[in-house]
Amino acid sequence: MNIKSATALLATCLLFSGIASADERQALFTQSLAATCANCHGTAGKSLQGAALPSLAGMKSEVIIEQMQAFKSGARSATIMHQIAKGFSDDQIKLLAGYFASQQP
Ligand code: HEC
Repeated sequence: MNIKSATALLATCLLFSGIASADERQALFTQSLAATCANCHGTAGKSLQGAALPSLAGMKSEVIIEQMQAFKSGARSATIMHQIAKGFSDDQIKLLAGYFASQQP
C-alpha cells in the first residue's frame, strides 16, 4: 500500500470512529469480547448440535455471571474455563453475560 492510500484509509477510519456512537462502540467492544468464546461455544454462543460444549446463547445472564465467577474463584472445577474466566474483569463478565443472554438459542 502506498502512502496516499494508507492516508486515505486512516482518514476513513478516523471518520467512522468519529461517527460511531458510544453505544455502537460499546456493542463492538462486547462483540469482540464474545468472539473470544466462539471457538468453543460457537458463533454468537450457538454451539453445534450434538457438540459436547454447552451453548451460551439464550442462557440466563445471572447464570452465566454465576458460573464465570465460580470458574474464576475455583468454586466450580473445570478443564479449561477456570483459566479463561480469570482473564475477564467483573464488568467484562457482565457484558458477556448480557450479550449471550440476548442471543437466540
Ligand atoms: C477453549 C475452549 C473454550 C473457550 C474459548 C471458552 N469456553 Fe466456556 N466452556 C468450555 C468448556 C470445556 C466448558 C465446560 C467446563 C470445563 O470443563 O471447562 C465450558 C463451560 C462454560 C460455561 C458453563 C456452561 C454451563 O452449562 O454450566 C460458561 C458460562 C462458559 N463456558 C462461558 C464462556 C465464555 C463467556 C467464554 C468467552 C469469554 C468461554 N466460555 C470461552 C470451553 C471453552
